Amino acid sequence: MTPLETYITENENRFLEDLKGWLRIPSISTLPEHAGDIRRAAEYAADQLRRIGFEQVHLIQTQNHPLVYGEWLKAPGKPTVLVYGHYDVQPVDPVELWESPPFEPTVRGENLYCRGACDDKGQTMLVFKALESLITVNGTLPVNVRVLIEGEEEAGGESIAHYVKTYPERLKCDTALICDTHMPSREIPALINGLRGIIYTEVEVRGAKGDLHSGSYGGIAPNPLHTLAIIIAGLKDAEGHIHIPGLYDKVREPSGAEKAFWRDDPLHINEALLEEMGVSQFTGEAEYPPLERMWNRPTLEVHGIVGGFAGEGAKTVIPAVAKAKISLRLPADLRSDEVFTLFERRVTEIAPAGVKVTVRKIHGGEAVIVPIDTPPMQAAASALKEVFGKEPVFIREGGSIPIAALFHEILGIPVVMMGFGLPDDNLHAPNEKYSLSQFFKGIRTVARFLQKMGE
Ligand code: BES
Ligand code: MN
Ligand code: MN
Repeated sequence: MTPLETYITENENRFLEDLKGWLRIPSISTLPEHAGDIRRAAEYAADQLRRIGFEQVHLIQTQNHPLVYGEWLKAPGKPTVLVYGHYDVQPVDPVELWESPPFEPTVRGENLYCRGACDDKGQTMLVFKALESLITVNGTLPVNVRVLIEGEEEAGGESIAHYVKTYPERLKCDTALICDTHMPSREIPALINGLRGIIYTEVEVRGAKGDLHSGSYGGIAPNPLHTLAIIIAGLKDAEGHIHIPGLYDKVREPSGAEKAFWRDDPLHINEALLEEMGVSQFTGEAEYPPLERMWNRPTLEVHGIVGGFAGEGAKTVIPAVAKAKISLRLPADLRSDEVFTLFERRVTEIAPAGVKVTVRKIHGGEAVIVPIDTPPMQAAASALKEVFGKEPVFIREGGSIPIAALFHEILGIPVVMMGFGLPDDNLHAPNEKYSLSQFFKGIRTVARFLQKMGE
């Protein structure tokens, strides 16, 4: 074993304890009552960076949650790597489905269970530990490193977007490393070459000035819940086609190689997906392979509807108001602002007369496609091969990491998306977990990636 490997092996337990300390802080970015926890989680990250010898470590105040910045720029002539991660997490409900409390990190078998265990505290901490290991063993890093961690990725990431657009010169670098993605399985390491964008909306329908008796007024009163159902049904049909004029116009044709991969599915990802979801068949646009539907087609999903009465028993009421959360995933070239305009127009067009419909944008982020033949990608591929014993695959992900597009567009650098999550990590769901061996292999891989970047 090299001294680096020895150091990592000897410190695995402490690395895990440092992660657990971070996980105990319930840094849910979308819920205002957790603002204090968000701050503590940011301080925790800053403290980790200071302890491993990073300089200029500080919190950057924003309109919303703070960013954490730190740098180590003592390798003149070597490239600079910008490390990104997020310390915020998604809400935990339904909390009764968790087998251990959502913010009490618990090891069961080979996994660490906790909200954020993978997304993204686990995957960010492993980069910190790779940096720590390199500095401690060698007294120096093989490359220059800037770290920028955000606290509102799960809420749209507006503050970091604003910061990157305003101060690109403070983030000068040659490549960015984002550890916030998955591998298809433990045996198949992956580099992500494309992500979809997103536009997240809220549609509100208002009818009468107050709730009404459904007998006294039924037949003449507008029903906002029913109107919402009509709107939703008008947006996407049973075959998975979205009825928003103009939406599909700009979808970029993928390369022949990607198309063949999606069609032939050589890694049998389709089978695994059915198994993960616990369903017997896919839904959606039958004329496209499932992988293409997930990775390069627009989607429209309803996340929740509220209004009226849904408690025990019966209540004969016509609600005055109903709301739905609806988002669209957007493949490259479909800009979130433009799609929001098309969406708003279509919702207004479907809505029957007699109700007031409001469409609000909650957040939006752009898709990204990155070239795979850049030196940083090749360094990452070679590090993955060393640690996992297999060439990585280049695949896309259906999820969104809005900052990836901005790094690509504003900083003009290749973005390496190399994550160690597994398909059954339950991101955003009850019993989120991270595989311990993936965490430890991740540390080794990132350390080797940075060494190769310095060669
Ligand atoms: N890490 C995820 C994105 C992801 C998920 C990548 C699965 C690869 C596999 C990220 O934290 C995330 O959840 N993003 C949000 C973005 C949104 C809230 C702007 C998403 O995709 O819903
Ligand atoms: Mn994430
Ligand atoms: Mn997430």
